Amino acid sequence: MNAQQLVEIIRTRTSAPLRHMSPPGPNADELKLIVEAAAAAPDHGRLHPFRIMEIPADARNALGALFEEGVKAAHEAPTEEALSRAREKAQRGPVLLVLVGCFHGADETSIPKYEQMISAGTALQNMVLVAHTLGYASRITSGTTARSAIFHKGLGLSENEEFLCFISLGKVDEARPAKGRQEVQEIFSVWSPE
Ligand SMILES: Cc1cc2nc3c(=O)[nH]c(=O)nc-3n(C[C@H](O)[C@H](O)[C@H](O)COP(=O)(O)O)c2cc1C
Repeated sequence: MNAQQLVEIIRTRTSAPLRHMSPPGPNADELKLIVEAAAAAPDHGRLHPFRIMEIPADARNALGALFEEGVKAAHEAPTEEALSRAREKAQRGPVLLVLVGCFHGADETSIPKYEQMISAGTALQNMVLVAHTLGYASRITSGTTARSAIFHKGLGLSENEEFLCFISLGKVDEARPAKGRQEVQEIFSVWSPE
């Protein structure tokens, strides 16, 4: 593969609407490749500032219960429709992953948290690009409930860990065109010292 082809893969990755995503998701071997790509993210200080968790099919209802609990905590009298919509969120995508940030504080390292977050972000990009190359669509989602203490506890995250996002993977009939991307000249300049 040459650089032009790689850029074409990167350029043609777009997020898929979850309601259009259907099975299958990546199989175990494909998932291993996707996670290998995450592990190749640049990681200043080898701090390993992220990990990936799969939410398997038989755990989706338990995840749905966490979403429901989150809505109940945020609203005094949620409607049954709101609760059902919350539960539904756990069914997003044939394969559902969680990207967890495992961040090291200033007491442990001089490497700032934002660098560790960038590392997790590049792992995320590596994963969706490999999924795209394998023919799977992806959708990255987050939300206030998923960042709540209810999720932190429910997902079994440690004190130094943070929910970063869900990654849903599956098939779509047609990829959405890319929107709102910047042109090279908008993001690139050459520094000239005064
Ligand atoms: C960490 C992270 C969390 C995100 N969470 C959401 C979300 O909860 N809802 C949403 O609509 N888009 C979310 N997005 C953005 C979309 O996944 C998507 O990247 C964006 O709409 C741009 O579309 P594109 O990927 O097709 O270029 C998130 C992106 C990132 C990187």
